[in-house]
Amino acid sequence: MEDILKVNNLTISYRTLRGKVKAVENVSFNLGKGKILAVVGETGSGKTTIGLAILRILPPNAVIEKGEIWFNGKNILDLDEDAMRRIRGKEISIIFQEPKITLNPVIKIGEQIAEVPIEHLGLDKKEAYRLARKMLERTGVPDPDRVMKSYPHELSGGMAQRVVISIAMILRPKLLVADEPTSALDVSVQAQVLDLIQELVRETGTSVIFITHDLSLAAEIADEILVMYYGKVVECGDVFEIFKTPKHPYTRALLNAIPRIGFRGRLKSLEEMINE
Ligand SMILES: Nc1ncnc2c1ncn2[C@@H]1O[C@H](COP(=O)(O)OP(=O)(O)O)[C@@H](O)[C@H]1O
Ligand SMILES: [Mg+2]
Repeated sequence: MEDILKVNNLTISYRTLRGKVKAVENVSFNLGKGKILAVVGETGSGKTTIGLAILRILPPNAVIEKGEIWFNGKNILDLDEDAMRRIRGKEISIIFQEPKITLNPVIKIGEQIAEVPIEHLGLDKKEAYRLARKMLERTGVPDPDRVMKSYPHELSGGMAQRVVISIAMILRPKLLVADEPTSALDVSVQAQVLDLIQELVRETGTSVIFITHDLSLAAEIADEILVMYYGKVVECGDVFEIFKTPKHPYTRALLNAIPRIGFRGRLKSLEEMINE
């Protein structure tokens, strides 16, 4: 099994007025192609910091003390900003908890989605908009033409998150970091958005780091689980192994969760959609 991502001994601190605070300490894990790894832990355990480090979008007061992040044979931490820009949004993308913060409030949805294939593939505007609309349609928004012409504030949270997912998945990235992508949504919408993410990544073979504080959610979506506790990995392994023999007390709550496998439909390849 080939790994798409290998994180070795990652240690990250933040500079604060009270001095340096360690957020992530000696974190190591591997992620296989097409696999979903849930990073689980309480608020403040360092989950988001790991996600931001992988995309190299840590805040300026963050200090990477040591470690390596191998993606596709390259150490992300050694790349220059130009190389990183080519990777971001194309090979690695990220979804955050709050879609309305991710989206630009003054740009119409259609343009925000189309921007991605224009920038990374050099598609012309017409092709890019067509692709954007198809992607949006695939995410299950009821009226894609109307949504394309809307501004973020005109959409519900669930619809806005579908737009963010469209942006993140339109180029079939090799890796998706989903940081609490359903936490800000109504309960009824959460399951739909989760199903959608699961379907899309299964169809595209995208590997996923799914960040959540919710153990049952992790068990539901992931192949493997990494449990964080105060910046350190306290447990890492196959979902079912962790179910059978949880080592850390925090992990024992997993036993109450029920795994589920979801699969519906198929996402056309990028080429198919462009040529249609
Ligand atoms: N920009 C920042 N400046 C200083 N400390 C931060 C910053 N971002 C996060 N931290 C601290 O780093 C630790 C890990 O935070 P974070 O990665 O956001 O955890 P999680 O996503 O698990 O809630 C926490 O103690 C948090 O307070
Ligand atoms: Mg977080």
